[in-house]
Amino acid sequence: MCGIIGYVGSQDVAPILIDGLKRLEYRGYDSAGIVIIDKEAQLFRAVGKVSNLEKRIGSHPLVGSLGMAHTRWATHGKPSEPNAHPHADCHGRLFIIHNGIIENFQTLKQDLLDEGHTFRSETDSEVIAHLIEKYYDGNLAEAVRRALARVDGTFGLAVIHKDHLDQAIVARRSSPLILGIGDGEHFFASDVAALVKHTKRVVYLDENEMAVLTPHHFTIGSLDKPDLVHSSSRTVHVDWDITAAEKQGYSHFMLKEIFEQPEAVRNAFRGRLLPAKGTAKLGGLDSVIDRLQAAHRIIIISCGTSYHAGLLGRYVLEELTDLSVEVDLASEFRYRKLNFRYGTVVLGISQSGETADTLAAVREAQTRGALALGLVNVVGSSIARETSAGVYNHAGPEISVASTKSFISQVTILTLISLMLGRLQKLSLRDGKAIITALEKLPSQIETILSNADEILRIAKKFADYKNFLYLGRKYSYPVALEGALKLKEISYLHAEGYAAGEMKHGPIALIDRQLPSICIVPRDSSYPKMVSNIQETKARDGRVIAIATQGDDKLRSILRVEDGTDEIFYIPETLEILSPILSVVPLQLLAYYVADLNGCDIDKPRNLAKSVTVE
Ligand code: F6R
Repeated sequence: MCGIIGYVGSQDVAPILIDGLKRLEYRGYDSAGIVIIDKEAQLFRAVGKVSNLEKRIGSHPLVGSLGMAHTRWATHGKPSEPNAHPHADCHGRLFIIHNGIIENFQTLKQDLLDEGHTFRSETDSEVIAHLIEKYYDGNLAEAVRRALARVDGTFGLAVIHKDHLDQAIVARRSSPLILGIGDGEHFFASDVAALVKHTKRVVYLDENEMAVLTPHHFTIGSLDKPDLVHSSSRTVHVDWDITAAEKQGYSHFMLKEIFEQPEAVRNAFRGRLLPAKGTAKLGGLDSVIDRLQAAHRIIIISCGTSYHAGLLGRYVLEELTDLSVEVDLASEFRYRKLNFRYGTVVLGISQSGETADTLAAVREAQTRGALALGLVNVVGSSIARETSAGVYNHAGPEISVASTKSFISQVTILTLISLMLGRLQKLSLRDGKAIITALEKLPSQIETILSNADEILRIAKKFADYKNFLYLGRKYSYPVALEGALKLKEISYLHAEGYAAGEMKHGPIALIDRQLPSICIVPRDSSYPKMVSNIQETKARDGRVIAIATQGDDKLRSILRVEDGTDEIFYIPETLEILSPILSVVPLQLLAYYVADLNGCDIDKPRNLAKSVTVE
């Protein structure tokens, strides 16, 4: 959740760190800090965004070629300057930056206090600085290892010391840490986005590993063993372009990413469709195809927007295959006493590949004997590496905290998986081909919707002052309703509820009046007649409706009061029912974006949120 960037080399480190912090700010932004060690340690921290840290540094000249910086998302201790990272030991000789949670910090802290250490923050992280100080006898790597052996919990950790101006030490357990390999210099970060400007050669640290970086060398080893070895074979090439992590003229990353969705869908199916055979080929699943074919049950686990994609995956998998499919929130999955028989497949869906709950659920499923697969966007992330096989989204970096293009990409790939498995079962060649034809049309259909973005802006202006919104849909449009509501609430802080339209009469219909607009997702599909009845029930209670409907649906227009401005219809192009969410979600993303913008919200960095949720 928090972001780490660091450097050891010969360049002036300050601009590298500040630039890296800006690229990481989407991960957490309640405070930020930087330390650079030259003759002296130069430590600056500030509450709020990186811009506040820059103000705090002011004209102070930062000198040195060894340093690290952090953006924080608070877990223990409120956002304040003393709680911001980096944290120092008692004498300001060594500094640490920590992502994660130290579960036994109270006990450790008490022991260290009893031994005379002085604490300056309320954080769990600070105990690591004092533990390293306690074990330090000239060998920093060994002190780090001994300190981490005492720690229960999770960490992405970076350590630098005044006595070691050419050395940085990093370690990880359940929190990502990536080395950036340069010439005569090394970088480290929690996130590839902070590195790609400097190098595309990276090494992903594995669980329970640590590394020692010097300008010309790096060594890696297990936290349990004292030997660290150089391992250039671990270096992988990242194909993310730096421009993909920049706004390129858009006012927000979220808007840019919404407009990248035609490309995200194209990238999701590029090279994966076999039109003549009416099926899809997913290379990442080749190694497990026999087990997949033998599977009788799939459990999809994910969080937030990825969970909504999972809900859609269930409909489409059930539609095209004979599999029995369950979807669960990763944070709840772990409490279920599931009986895994041979033939159970667990699919973890995660844009970041680092979401702690999803990662823990995937691990749990694996220990219980399930085949664990991943659907992940960030290459080399923990879920990607810990699952037996999987599929990458290739959606490019998603910087906005609110997911958009990754959702659309996830739903597209879930359709490809369903198509592939369906064709191995009973799905006909004809139906398979029809799905491929419809899939290939999606990018240009999304472009058509995006070309009408001004129409959504007009609607947003009409409704931006409302405080409560209801999102309604049935079947494929139900998860879309959930996703539309999530988008609005997370970036505009307005109350929005997604509901299965059929459930309205069991309670929520009591809420309907002119002050509660209902956003109804009503494409012309198998649930259309029932959805229209729900809209009529809403209208009968004086509710206002914004309908997302299929192009040419005049019947709906005649039910709604569009002409006098009470209601609104936004049309989307016609597609297959199973693909309609990929189109109907786009106007909802735009609506959330414009309403939040009109309300002056900080869209790319909504309060209290972080992009990658690496705590449970
Ligand atoms: C909402 C959003 C979050 C994420 C959730 C899971 O817009 O972005 O709800 O979807 O935190 O994240 P990943 O997909 O990285 O596991």
